[in-house]
Amino acid sequence: MIETGGGGGLWLLTGRTSGYALHLTDRAELLHLHWGPRLTLADAEELAAEPQRPPWPFESPLDGREEYVVEGGPRFVRPALSVRTPDVRGTQWRFEGVRVDADADELRLRFTDPVHRLGITLHYRMRDDSDVVERWTTLRHEGAPGDPHVEVLRADAAVWTLPARDGWRLGQLHGRWAAESRLVRSPLTPGDKVLGSRRGHTGHQHLPWVALDAEGAATEESGEVYGCALGWSGSWRIAVQHLPDGGVQIGGGAGYDDSGLLSLAPGESYTSPVFAGLWSAGGFGGASREWHAWQLARVVPDAGRTRPVLFNSWEATGFDIGEPQQRALARRAAALGVELFVVDDGWFGARTHDGAGLGDWTPNPDRFPGGLGPLADEVHALGMEFGIWVEPEMVNPDSALYRAHPEWVQHHPGRARTEFRNQLVLNLARPDVREHLWEQLDGLLSGAPVDYVKWDFNRCFTDAGWPGEAYPARLWTAHVHGLYGLLDRLRAAHPRVAFESCSGGGGRIDLGILSRTDQVWTSDNTDPLDRLAIQHGFSQLHPARVMAAWVTDSPNTQLNGRRSSLRFRFVSAMAGVLGIGGDLTRWSEAELAEARDWVALYKEIREVVQLGAQYRLRAPSGGLSAVQYVRGGESVVLAHLQAQHHGERPPPVRLRGLDPAAAYRCEETGAVHGGAVLLHRGLETGLRGDLDAAVFRFRRV
Ligand code: GLA
Repeated sequence: MIETGGGGGLWLLTGRTSGYALHLTDRAELLHLHWGPRLTLADAEELAAEPQRPPWPFESPLDGREEYVVEGGPRFVRPALSVRTPDVRGTQWRFEGVRVDADADELRLRFTDPVHRLGITLHYRMRDDSDVVERWTTLRHEGAPGDPHVEVLRADAAVWTLPARDGWRLGQLHGRWAAESRLVRSPLTPGDKVLGSRRGHTGHQHLPWVALDAEGAATEESGEVYGCALGWSGSWRIAVQHLPDGGVQIGGGAGYDDSGLLSLAPGESYTSPVFAGLWSAGGFGGASREWHAWQLARVVPDAGRTRPVLFNSWEATGFDIGEPQQRALARRAAALGVELFVVDDGWFGARTHDGAGLGDWTPNPDRFPGGLGPLADEVHALGMEFGIWVEPEMVNPDSALYRAHPEWVQHHPGRARTEFRNQLVLNLARPDVREHLWEQLDGLLSGAPVDYVKWDFNRCFTDAGWPGEAYPARLWTAHVHGLYGLLDRLRAAHPRVAFESCSGGGGRIDLGILSRTDQVWTSDNTDPLDRLAIQHGFSQLHPARVMAAWVTDSPNTQLNGRRSSLRFRFVSAMAGVLGIGGDLTRWSEAELAEARDWVALYKEIREVVQLGAQYRLRAPSGGLSAVQYVRGGESVVLAHLQAQHHGERPPPVRLRGLDPAAAYRCEETGAVHGGAVLLHRGLETGLRGDLDAAVFRFRRV
């Protein structure tokens, strides 16, 4: 709901439990008033009427108070907007008008800078049933043909302002390849804390998300938590600024630095990604559940449908694939209850190793003589869906595509260029490249009965040059828009095909890609113990419904040789969208039979896991950890014990989200427990030794 007050210059947005208020002064200053629990309009007006303290001569009267910080004037904080025309840099804006679109729950505030002839619109959206506020910014060159271009050096999506508190703690998700999404919380000290990516993709190093709690007082179960998450799949920056007076502002948007996003010609416009914000009084767990619910309702396509159990042989077979072998694996997978069979890298062109073939999206004739159709038909006959791996944004120099179009890759003329994994990045800012990719991928999806596409991206940008282009800096944002455009067009033309976002594991996980893919590949690290920490971090922001997780071989082949039971591997992977990635031809009859039972159990709990409310009962930190999912009268607990010490029994796990007055039957033991007992005393897991795990299902009786 959006209410207007203060004689027309004050706006109050109200969501499920929270509110957000801002106002415009008669000097066209757009000031922040409130972000926190619900307020009345009268409360917000009272805040707006408070007299402001006159600033010291060395302080800005605006810093820390503005809704969107432009460059220039009495401001010393990081600008959200930095633009220039040939003679003038910075912005002095004039308020033009406001539009409240009640149907879309959207507030639009329009300003112009008459010198640059630049229109600036700030967008806010808050739905009644959520506490997420979506914010973004649009720019438009409103001049006439012949006017100079407006160079946009930086245009953040939004600036978030936190209330005054004695101090803040910052939570973030950091990592690297095979170690993504690890949660760390630390006190916020004065100055700017900058997270981001200058790699051209979201990156394994940071998820575009921060969480702040005042005085470090929040727990998993209680306390106020502020969160901000960016929906952008290219280079990005979130700057958390702890200002001299203790105030905190968080700016975020596309591009890592302020060196240039694009140049707007008269009539052209730019829309920033969405920078979403959330206030929750429910602790870290409550904040996560609110983020999850919003993504399932508003971001992830068709999120009400659960995802199938998949098989993918990449870890087991690498590039060494062929039709008879894939058929054999498909039969074994089907016998386990697998529902989606995916052929990974190596099926196309001369791609028998990572040095050739990338870019040539036609089946390798030696490996798949009749194309992919015959394998897809057998997979379908076995009752499974059929999926393929692609990496459309890349090319090996040793490929037919590169030989035909060497000018299609990102490069700086006269400079050495970097090859990572023997590949170069295609320049998706070029319309001819996008059109070529569209034809290839559309042809692929029309030519064989493909139900699922794993879309990979296996190297960062390094030589993002664009010979002949007057403003090559725009390549960075145009690449992402090119990618989004392709995905949107493919989804529209092939609505039954599901897409997974992968980038060497979790290098492209963000709200932008999630709004046009069905799930993400969480990490190339499939070690079931390491995964617990990665999944714990991932769940801070994203729901289990999009988190792909595979059971692979033991000892672990990719990373560490760790041995673990099939039980531990399954119970670890069942916390997300279950997949199997082991070499099924080497699993014993006993292992195959056990796996069949785990897959069947997963199908029983999948709706609760993928679509339920998630409670992190105990974080993975060496001993016992557990995560719980609740949906209606059903609940599932996945418990993991890393190592037992000194013969001590792991403590009971206190459950959440149950009705204390109700009774619950545990399907595993047949015992009926009072809700209050499970909530207060907790559940005895009986786990022991090393790497033990168990699933508990509860049904309300
Ligand atoms: C990336 C992915 C893997 C696999 C390989 C194939 O590393 O993360 O899952 O698809 O590419 O080359």
